Amino acid sequence: MSPRRPLVSGNWKMHLTHLEAIQVVQKLSYALERGPQGAVEVSVHPAFTALRSVQTVLDADEISVALGAQDVHWEDSGPWTGEVSPVMLAKLGVRYVIVGHSERRQHLGETDGWVNRKLRATLRAGMTPICCVGETAEQRDAGRTEEVVVGQLHAALAGVEPAEAARLVVAYEPIWAIGTGRTATPADAQAVAAALRVAVGERWGPDAAGGVRIQYGGSVNERNAADLVGQPDVDGALVGGASLDPVAFAAVVAAARPR
Ligand code: 13P
Repeated sequence: MSPRRPLVSGNWKMHLTHLEAIQVVQKLSYALERGPQGAVEVSVHPAFTALRSVQTVLDADEISVALGAQDVHWEDSGPWTGEVSPVMLAKLGVRYVIVGHSERRQHLGETDGWVNRKLRATLRAGMTPICCVGETAEQRDAGRTEEVVVGQLHAALAGVEPAEAARLVVAYEPIWAIGTGRTATPADAQAVAAALRVAVGERWGPDAAGGVRIQYGGSVNERNAADLVGQPDVDGALVGGASLDPVAFAAVVAAARPR
């Protein structure tokens, strides 16, 4: 069995008001209690407007779900209208921060350089980055998948120490699989996760390679999760659409339990 504890994360994207988010997290708590627990770590990533409400519910009800954010700025404070700093998130009890999601890279101009600054700022604030990498359909068809994702990994992790790399989470999210209902095959997800782990080992050493958790993301649901997360180098899932349904998300968590 893998020494790494699987992490299943729900990326709620730009869905759920803070009132709806409270309901979803309460239902999720109920759904998780009826399923297998403990062996799988769970995080939810609400919109910034719902973080405080979700944190209050998680704390009050002692729900064993980690609080996550979907993005962060790299400065601790300053004249950055509309941005949210790592210090602000850490103070709210946020443990995981998604950085470099392809929706931000593709539609909001996020560069490799920004992703690197955000990732290091997240570590500096004592939180764990979930660093997203993934290829387009054209890049996959051209046989460039590993080159693209390993390039994104090196750019995102530039300047990171081996001990920091060991506690990172990397999410392999093929862009063509996000929100499309198309998933990578378990064999493809395994091949890319293995290539990412080898790349971490070559640059940051064997301890980092053994410690880094690699999630798969892209149309994960309760039916396909067990096969994807069952792969030896896949240590959990980053779930979009299915994470909005507490029962479906709890089933993904159950499917991620090590066997
Ligand atoms: P879907 O699960 O909706 O395809 O989204 C995946 C994703 O982008 C998670 O970050």
